[in-house]
Amino acid sequence: MSSVTHQPVDAPLTQAAMYLVLTINPGSEPLDAVRSLCADLPGLLRSVGFRDLDGRLSCIMGFGSSAWDRLFGSPRPKELHPFKEIQGVHHAVSTPGDILLHIRATRMDLCFELATQVTTRLGDAAAVVDEVHGFKYFDARDLIGFVDGTENPDGPDAVAATVIGDEDGDFVGGSYVIVQKYLHDLAGWNALPVEMQERIIGRTKQTNIELADDVKPSWAHNALTVIEEDGEELDIVRGNMPFGDVGKGEFGTYFIGYARSPSRIERMLENMFIGRPPGNYDRLLDFSRAVTGSLFFVPSAGFLENAPDFGAPQTPDTSSPGAGAPDGSLGIGSLKGESSHE
Ligand code: HEM
Repeated sequence: MSSVTHQPVDAPLTQAAMYLVLTINPGSEPLDAVRSLCADLPGLLRSVGFRDLDGRLSCIMGFGSSAWDRLFGSPRPKELHPFKEIQGVHHAVSTPGDILLHIRATRMDLCFELATQVTTRLGDAAAVVDEVHGFKYFDARDLIGFVDGTENPDGPDAVAATVIGDEDGDFVGGSYVIVQKYLHDLAGWNALPVEMQERIIGRTKQTNIELADDVKPSWAHNALTVIEEDGEELDIVRGNMPFGDVGKGEFGTYFIGYARSPSRIERMLENMFIGRPPGNYDRLLDFSRAVTGSLFFVPSAGFLENAPDFGAPQTPDTSSPGAGAPDGSLGIGSLKGESSHE
């Protein structure tokens, strides 16, 4: 029986976040650089995070399907595959991504500094293909004006929703994550009467109260994203944040959903993009367009620390400054989650 620590996939929302998607360049040297970064990440986190312990700096690292094979070979997480494009009433695109870094803190400077340290460490090994700086907008609203994140599970429920247990013995403590960058047609959205916006989201705008069942349409966002198995709701944990660029007229929501199985998120996406039943789709998508889509596996913290030795070719381990035996005890929201699995 071993206890396995997960990455902080269940961490609560913060004021700031950075979402970086990278691709790994060809060749074996880039792979070595990525593996050694995995082991160095806790040290980098401590170096940056200790400068403001109240900043709650944390970082989650995930890997895309083909990157997993290149970096770690087998065994591979049972449900890891490339993000499945959906051609429904609306289109969910699938875009490249080998590494995801989800960095959170109460201050953007902490996120920015860690992202700089990490990308400097990677050097030519990987290229950032998408970078989003998310910010908290008033009372955790997205830019369409609704409070986003209310129904997220927390505490033990969040862990149960996101962290793999016995169903994949080699990867206990891991999670799956799907990201999609959405751009809103704010002018179109704001031209809708608030009552219609509320029917689309399924909650009141000002007061964030869920609409009653006899008022909420079957195509409301929070109707289509509620899924069940054997009468039980299947939860995910979302870390969505608004982002934007006023000069470019870009107003977006970065969707990021963690779950112990990607199929939960995929079912929600099918309901949204194709409809439940087909055709009864999510009207939010008439105003919000997904411009990226990628799926990653988030291994346990212990797996990351030992990544240089895992499935790597027979090369001697390089001693890496900053790597050590991190124990997460500094409480800076390091890679360690709070609970463990038997
Ligand atoms: C433009 C992108 C999106 C926006 C602006 C958005 C916004 C919202 C808002 C305002 C809520 C209601 C409050 C809450 O419980 O958080 C919500 C709920 C939810 N959303 Fe989204 N969302 C987006 C995309 C997605 C996607 C892609 C998924 C899943 C694949 C998803 C899954 C959920 C779930 C599971 C809930 C909670 C439903 C419930 O239990 O009531 N959302 N979203």
